Amino acid sequence: MLTVAVLISGAGSNLRALLEAAALPDYPARVVAIGADREAEGFAHAEAFGIPRFVVPWRGSAARADWGDELIRALDEVQPDLIVLSGLMRLLPPAVVARYAPCILNTHPAHLPEFPGAHAVRDALAAGASTTGASVIVVDDGVDTGPVLAQERVSVHADDTEQSLHARIKPVERRLLIDVVRRIAVGELDLAAVTSAART
Ligand code: GAR
Repeated sequence: MLTVAVLISGAGSNLRALLEAAALPDYPARVVAIGADREAEGFAHAEAFGIPRFVVPWRGSAARADWGDELIRALDEVQPDLIVLSGLMRLLPPAVVARYAPCILNTHPAHLPEFPGAHAVRDALAAGASTTGASVIVVDDGVDTGPVLAQERVSVHADDTEQSLHARIKPVERRLLIDVVRRIAVGELDLAAVTSAART
């Protein structure tokens, strides 16, 4: 059984979908811890599913390296096979990536490499894009630059707001994430092989 730690910052609706999938008897992964950089709203899902939670409070970019060290200590206690960034709105410090890569995934509400960063949905609308999408990637030291594991297009409607477009993207992200975690758990997807192939 693949063990997963999920890191969030906000509502955790994608986390919730993963928790629901992991509760199904034939799903080959389980969530063993939920962490955040603040007292996130999404911790309600941790409580609902009886999953341990931890907070490593963000204290500003000057303390980023210390935050990373604290995050490593919290994750080392859990020793997950896989870490999923599910709406964690922080760039992981290099020490965290070095410690856990390639076993860190990120979900992103755009068809990478289009619209990386913290405001992907807003940026797609501002660019007048007719389509955007959802991606699940391996985390590296860049901003949403790691190898893409799964992605799908989502159409932008003329009357879309950031909220309405994001609401259509999220179910796609959830489906992709649940499937990618399953494929990793059953050995269909080898993160070390994917990342070394991406380097060549
Ligand atoms: C998701 O769309 C996730 O991809 C995005 O935040 C949302 C979290 O929603 N993450 C990023 O934009 C990271 N750059 P949720 O808290 O409801 O799951």
